[in-house]
Amino acid sequence: MQLEAKNIGFSYDKSRWIFRNLDFTIGAGEIVGIRGRSGCGKTTFARVLSGYEQQKEGTVTLKNSPLPKRGYQPVQLVFQHPEKAVNPKWRMEKVLHEGGKIDGQLLDLLGVKQEWLTRWPNELSGGELQRFCVARALGTGTRFLIADEMTTMLDAITQAQIWHAVVEIARQRKIGIVVISHEEALIRRLCTRVVTFS
Ligand SMILES: Nc1ncnc2c1ncn2[C@@H]1O[C@H](COP(=O)(O)OP(=O)(O)OP(=O)(O)O)[C@@H](O)[C@H]1O
Ligand SMILES: [Mg+2]
Repeated sequence: MQLEAKNIGFSYDKSRWIFRNLDFTIGAGEIVGIRGRSGCGKTTFARVLSGYEQQKEGTVTLKNSPLPKRGYQPVQLVFQHPEKAVNPKWRMEKVLHEGGKIDGQLLDLLGVKQEWLTRWPNELSGGELQRFCVARALGTGTRFLIADEMTTMLDAITQAQIWHAVVEIARQRKIGIVVISHEEALIRRLCTRVVTFS
């Protein structure tokens, strides 16, 4: 199982390429870091790799096929702002099950409390909400997780708990993870390989 971007290029408008001729490959169970200065295109790349944006050139393939256009998305993206990623009109249990079947062990590891399930998104802290977004992204059909500054706004203890849970589940299910971060220490601790964007 491989997620592969080959010779991809992307631009928001015709005047400027955000990136071009970019190759990237990640295998099952691998944890790969991406770093690079602010504005160099990491989030844009994350969106292309997870099918939220269509590349203008090149191909993105999972197991040698294009990403599925409908149904469950095996390449899941979690980004920095959980409040922008949940429907404010849904209670948390509904938000959670948007991601298909979620296993109980994952919720325990992430420290999601039972009593949070009946609340609305605005009744949770940013850190509590992010645990839901991480759980939702790790539905049983997920093969790759793209974590774009996923724990940047959290304190060190919450950050460590979330990453411990994610790495444990990824190890069990051979999920590959792309860690996009400005935190060198985090990348060094988690990743077996690092790519620098310029
Ligand atoms: N929707 C958009 N329309 C036009 N330009 C955009 C859009 N989103 C991002 N950009 C531009 O694309 C470039 C890359 O942005 P991107 O968010 O991918 O950078 P980044 O590497 O993730 O930065 P950071 O480290 O600050 O998160 C920036 O110059 C940004 O202004
Ligand atoms: Mg970004």
